[in-house]
Amino acid sequence: MAFLNENYLKLKAGYLFPEIARRVKAFGDANPAAASRLIRCGIGDVTEPLPPAVTAALHQAVDDLGRRETFRGYGPEQGYDWLRAAIGKSDYRDRGLDVADDEIFVSDGSKCDCGAILDILGHRNRIAITDPVYPVYVDTNVMVGHTGEADTSGAYAGIHYLPCTEANGFIPEPPAEAVDVIYLCSPNNPTGAAATRAQLEAWVAYARRHGSVLLFDAAYEAYITDPAIPHSIYEIPGARECAIEFRSFSKDGGFTGTRCAFTVVPKSLMARTESGESRPLHPLWLRRMTTKFNGVSYIIQRGAAALYTPDGRRQVRELVEHYLGNASLLVAGARAAGLKVFGGVNAPYIWVAAPAGYTSWAAFDKILNEANVVITPGSGFGSKGEGYFRVSAFNSRANAEEVSRRLQALKW
Ligand code: MLT
Repeated sequence: MAFLNENYLKLKAGYLFPEIARRVKAFGDANPAAASRLIRCGIGDVTEPLPPAVTAALHQAVDDLGRRETFRGYGPEQGYDWLRAAIGKSDYRDRGLDVADDEIFVSDGSKCDCGAILDILGHRNRIAITDPVYPVYVDTNVMVGHTGEADTSGAYAGIHYLPCTEANGFIPEPPAEAVDVIYLCSPNNPTGAAATRAQLEAWVAYARRHGSVLLFDAAYEAYITDPAIPHSIYEIPGARECAIEFRSFSKDGGFTGTRCAFTVVPKSLMARTESGESRPLHPLWLRRMTTKFNGVSYIIQRGAAALYTPDGRRQVRELVEHYLGNASLLVAGARAAGLKVFGGVNAPYIWVAAPAGYTSWAAFDKILNEANVVITPGSGFGSKGEGYFRVSAFNSRANAEEVSRRLQALKW
């Protein structure tokens, strides 16, 4: 009989969102009348249609594939040159940042890349992960065997947790001890906090001092409204020597179903071999992508490239402003209900302290049963998320207004 990967047996319950879906389905089955009132502010999934510039480009790309002269089969695994060039210019060089087109790898999602990046990192790294955190960072490390078992709070042996609390504004400082790989997400999922330049400078200085690699997830950078907050880790001098950046078209271009993202691996980023030799990570990621991935489809990459046209950029801005408008309504509603609220200003998530006496799941159940709204329990993001819940602003305006009203009507 074949052996299985026992690391999977260490994983806690289900992945958070399938677990929420299971509970919501059980609620709907038991309460069919209430189910029709249900508003989902759980998973951060976009609701608004793709920008018209994108749909036009998608249609055109389909036609391209239907004609002999413009048909294409396999594309470059790391992305078509024209998309990499548009990204490199608009997201980096036009902003004065030094990122070359061939340091950009187009993929089908940041979630996939955040997990896949472990392929090119060694197994002896000390891994630091914020708590609360996007669960993918933790679970992918568990799956590849970087951890021991979880304790009763859900914390895995072998991971260095960086607590994100009200006291540190949900942005952790670098630890006193040396760690090798650090996951940072700014603007943050789930707390909605965004790291300042000074905070990122401290992390880059730490990483350079210890030879660590920062895995910087900037999937929500389009939501930054404060002009002082960096959109990219490469705004910090020295980051090219210590950081990989993950970006996504999911939350700005509405590509959660369409799937397109990219990862930047600077050629100047080095890591060491067991024998102490310093080697660049870029060729390893290129090798990984060309071996395990066949690229995002031509059609979807054409759609993503349309996000960089003048029309596309304006339409993305409108989409982001729509969701940010929802976020302010939700913040206002939760505050009017007497709740303590964070985030929602530079991020599409609001992070709410559950009233005294409520655990995250107790708040989830109450809000589901009494307001018929689905939120995400903070404890699903880590033990330091206990006592909080996350409300996603990805919704129609009418739903955001209704959720704001229902939150105010709840009696705790
Ligand atoms: C979330 O709700 O945290 C996100 O939608 C998850 C994701 O982007 O994969």
